[in-house]
Amino acid sequence: MCLTVDTLVAGNRERDHRTGFTTPPKLTIQSLMSFAMRPEWVFNYFTHKKFELSNVAKKTDKGTNIAKSVIEYINEQYDPAMNWKDAEYCVKKWNKPFALKGVMSVEDAKRAIDIGCTAIMISNHGGRQLDGSRSPFDQVKEISDAVGDKLEIILDGGIRRGTHVLKALAAGATACSFGKMFLFSLGAGGQPGVERLLQNMHDEINRNMVLMGCKNIKELNRTKLIYRK
Ligand SMILES: Cc1cc2nc3c(=O)[nH]c(=O)nc-3n(C[C@H](O)[C@H](O)[C@H](O)COP(=O)(O)O)c2cc1C
Repeated sequence: MCLTVDTLVAGNRERDHRTGFTTPPKLTIQSLMSFAMRPEWVFNYFTHKKFELSNVAKKTDKGTNIAKSVIEYINEQYDPAMNWKDAEYCVKKWNKPFALKGVMSVEDAKRAIDIGCTAIMISNHGGRQLDGSRSPFDQVKEISDAVGDKLEIILDGGIRRGTHVLKALAAGATACSFGKMFLFSLGAGGQPGVERLLQNMHDEINRNMVLMGCKNIKELNRTKLIYRK
């Protein structure tokens, strides 16, 4: 189970206003052009089951047929008063491996341990929330030094290449996760695009481990990195 904790209110995604990324999508000249250029997508859209937000489809008709920006929609759905006690309740209720997503400091990582989390995801939500926040990668070393022996540390965000994964693991992350990389591949090439992405990642990780002289993942440690002063 994973609980995202950096979205108490939605970031102001200005591009969404410009491109008409609302529910339902607003038609702009740009989006109409883009539909015209992709007749296969339009055909599939009209001949397949309508897209719906499954998590909330039965709770509200907002997000499906009432015009709202995604930000307005998110802000209506989430409770900004959610706090550590609520997170602790979820952890105890679930009673299985639990990750807190959106941790960016040692202090919060320690609190995650206190409430029983087994993992944290160091994440700034792919840069979609707090403009100017530090990058997740820059937090890995500090957090791993403080709590790396007590819970799993998943670096989330900014991963585009196999070498990014190697750097994250060498800095102290247990694993990495990514969002846009999947979406870009899916948009560019559908399922085969995502399969190619995974193959590329696999090949890059293997090739670059050989080039670094590492026989296994355990050999990826701080000695493999040089930090600029
Ligand atoms: C279109 C889009 C939708 C997302 N929706 C969610 C979401 O509903 N919940 C969540 O925790 N993170 C969400 N994220 C953030 C991703 O889970 C992840 O933290 C982020 O994409 C990682 O950064 P990266 O894109 O650089 O890999 C979303 C990201 C994108 C691009």
